Amino acid sequence: MTRIFSGLKPTGHLTLGNYLGALRRWVEVDQHRAEALFSVVDLHALTVEHDPARVRRLSRQAATLMLAAGLDPQRCTVFVQSHVDEHTRLSYLLECTAADGELRRMIQYREKGGQARAAGQSVRLSLLTYPVLMAADILAYGADEVPVGEDQTQHVELTRDLAVRFNQRYGHTFTVPRATHPPVAARVMDLQDPASKMGKSHEPGAGIVHLLDDADTVRKKIMRAVTDSGREVEYDREHKPGLANLLEILAACEGGKPDELAGAYDSYGALKKDTAEAVVDLLRPVRERHAELAADPAGVDAVLRLGAERARGLARPRVDAAFRAIGLMPAV
Ligand code: TYM
Repeated sequence: MTRIFSGLKPTGHLTLGNYLGALRRWVEVDQHRAEALFSVVDLHALTVEHDPARVRRLSRQAATLMLAAGLDPQRCTVFVQSHVDEHTRLSYLLECTAADGELRRMIQYREKGGQARAAGQSVRLSLLTYPVLMAADILAYGADEVPVGEDQTQHVELTRDLAVRFNQRYGHTFTVPRATHPPVAARVMDLQDPASKMGKSHEPGAGIVHLLDDADTVRKKIMRAVTDSGREVEYDREHKPGLANLLEILAACEGGKPDELAGAYDSYGALKKDTAEAVVDLLRPVRERHAELAADPAGVDAVLRLGAERARGLARPRVDAAFRAIGLMPAV
């Protein structure tokens, strides 16, 4: 059976980008057709300046939202990365497989490292090694597929390279995974700056819709979205990126294709209004279910405890095999 792994990093409140690019497909498609694991990848939140209490709070919130969105613990495994030691155990072996040059070339390292340096902060070594830990997340489970938004493609490519290299050097140990993306909205852009990705760490932001925003806030953010010059509603990512973003969001909410939807509108205002209502309708049940689940933290804990146990059981044999393959002496 196909195995799937994916994760969300608790560095901020989850956004519409996280939902449309990843979480919604995990719920609607992936958990039904494969043996799937979904993780709050909290170790990844420590690679940039962080507030410990906030990371802890956001981790719980992310886990609760994953369940609220519809991940069903009877169908898939939901857990917190730091509860399963195999991720960091394997990450070290993969650090011994990766070269520093290939990590320095990673776009996210260059961008986030550049931002930290510009703000006068030091760059954490873990920001450089982050993609190796991500590779460990995936390879520990022998995942065939990694459903992610477009921004993660380079990381999954590195994961593939590391798997192939490890297998060639030390014998077949890892499945070589591939990234999968949703058909639309694989890269939702910031409503105020359609040249940048809608990212959870850019908050507070008028251009970011959060999953827990109330209906009026969602409406306001979408009605104030930056649109492009001209009056004609057309789907043109290059010349009308603001409009294209709204059309993609609408298409993702309602089904259909962005270019076909464009033909149904003769004003930007009408498109914004329909997009706002579609997003409000899409997020309402998630927000309501989140409120119910958040009132029962022990229930969420029970899911995460069981999830971590299952994940450990799946990861341990493969990580142990990697320890042996690379030349480490078994414990005596
Ligand atoms: P993260 O936490 O930034 O994002 C979680 C998922 O949401 C997708 N996403 C988006 N999709 C469309 N439009 C957007 N604006 C948008 N913003 C985020 C991301 O592509 C991702 O699928 N490195 C990963 C976390 C990670 C991981 C893993 C993922 C760690 N280990 C192993 C898969 C497998 C990250 O930073 O995602």
